[in-house]
Amino acid sequence: MSTTYVLDTSTSRAHPTPAPMKRLNIPGIRQRKVDGKTELPVVMLTAYTARQAQLLDAHCDLLLVGDSLGQVIYGLPSSVPVTLDMMCAHGAAVVRGSYHAAVVVDMPFGAYESSPQQAFESASRVLKETGCDAIKLEGGVAMAETVAFLTQRGIPVMGHVGLTPQAVNVLGGYNARGRSAAEAEKIIGDARAIAEAGAFAIVVEGVVEPLAVAITKAVPCPTIGIGASAQCDGQVLVTDDMLGMFERTPRFVKIYEHLAETISTAAANYAAEVRDRTFPGVEQTYQPK
Ligand code: KIV
Repeated sequence: MSTTYVLDTSTSRAHPTPAPMKRLNIPGIRQRKVDGKTELPVVMLTAYTARQAQLLDAHCDLLLVGDSLGQVIYGLPSSVPVTLDMMCAHGAAVVRGSYHAAVVVDMPFGAYESSPQQAFESASRVLKETGCDAIKLEGGVAMAETVAFLTQRGIPVMGHVGLTPQAVNVLGGYNARGRSAAEAEKIIGDARAIAEAGAFAIVVEGVVEPLAVAITKAVPCPTIGIGASAQCDGQVLVTDDMLGMFERTPRFVKIYEHLAETISTAAANYAAEVRDRTFPGVEQTYQPK
């Protein structure tokens, strides 16, 4: 049965029929991995708007309000210019549009790196203004103290290692990481450090497959792969990528739909009907004299 929604205009909240299940929580996601094994893989997709969240919610364990919204929604060249205001606005929309999946909001570049205190101020603002369940931040050993500081003060943290897009200016691009033994060791050390600091899950992005498998074995919390390995404890994709919204999509992305074509055909049909005056009119009783 498909879900329908009635919008309560006073709260902007869309109430689904049939009634949804209870929202998943962060300890429940962490506990999916027991003694190094995850029976039920963790399903995560990005969401940036209330309507997108409504459509994805029932199918996902986690919705990620990724800072990839910089490129996907705002047409920015990278996630570096994304602000805390943007993350709060989109995070609140996704929480309003979801009932079942736990919502994780990315901390944008510049909002958490300078100190654990700065990270706490930014993350607590995100939690208060959006109602989300957890935040995500990029980095390994250098961020371990911050991850511990936040988790010990009531803020669940998802880590992100390997290809960390906010560091594009240091990494020099978006190529897969961990090809050399030294780099692979460093990335495993990063994952271990933030897992020990209390991260409930770790995104492993853009690393060679044996490294993703090694990280998944090395940490007690679930790993969520993107361009990594099917052997991770879960997977995430940028929803607009897997829906075929862009001309260029990373090679590892499986495209499940071709929405760009569908939208462009619909717009072309509409434009043609407006121009040749076959656009449907409204039946009316008034007759001009
Ligand atoms: O910003 C984002 O969408 C992400 C995912 C790609 C993991 O960080």
